[in-house]
Amino acid sequence: MRKKIVAGNWKMNLDRDESKQLFSNIISIKTSDNGPLALVFPPSIYLADFVKLNNGNVSIGAQNFHHADKGAFTGEVSAGQLKSIGCEYVLVGHSERRTLFMEDDQVLLLKIRAALENELQVIYCCGESLEEREQGQFINKIRSQVNLLKTFSTEEMKSISIAYEPIWAIGTGKTASPKQAAEMHDLIREEINVLFGAETSENTSILYGGSCSPKNAHELFMCKNIDGGLIGGASLDANSFHSIISACQ
Ligand code: 13P
Repeated sequence: MRKKIVAGNWKMNLDRDESKQLFSNIISIKTSDNGPLALVFPPSIYLADFVKLNNGNVSIGAQNFHHADKGAFTGEVSAGQLKSIGCEYVLVGHSERRTLFMEDDQVLLLKIRAALENELQVIYCCGESLEEREQGQFINKIRSQVNLLKTFSTEEMKSISIAYEPIWAIGTGKTASPKQAAEMHDLIREEINVLFGAETSENTSILYGGSCSPKNAHELFMCKNIDGGLIGGASLDANSFHSIISACQ
């Protein structure tokens, strides 16, 4: 059985006090035993504090890291360093990293490899731009982004989940309709089936991200191939985040 996951990507928001308050509020509510895994991706500067504060109600991940083990990479943090402070998950391939920080396929592959070598769980993000959707290129785009994973083994795929985040839905309030999201999640699961076979395909969690909120989460999570969400804005409020977690049973 694949895992259901509701993850909050805080991006570069909240100062120390605000983020500590949010984290405390989030972990103060125990999620139900048959509910999804609750996961947060705070800014990396707070990770070590939150790992210490954590009461086990959430898992903690890093939004970014460098693929090298160590060395002269001023300002960077490695997967091994994240592992050493108790971080469990990493995001790879978020559209903001791909576009604003020019992370190409080669870099993304190195990052996934580094994460796996350090026993971190990966959430690999994919998603098409508005232009690609309007020009009908979105199916090929998502196929080719998912295809990047083909170099990994079925064993390694056990540590990789996928988040489908259409770029036109991120931070815009324009959520993909359940029909649009379901079509893409079906496609991603089919692509995993082609690359790795039925068992891996059935066991891979595929999350939806892009203006997911307490209002639309339930409808999205009802779709058979949507296994939870990667939440931006709505994860910055503990009540909204918990409503979304409750919508994913
Ligand atoms: P929003 O939920 O704010 O649209 O952000 C989605 C996202 O990018 C999560 O990684």
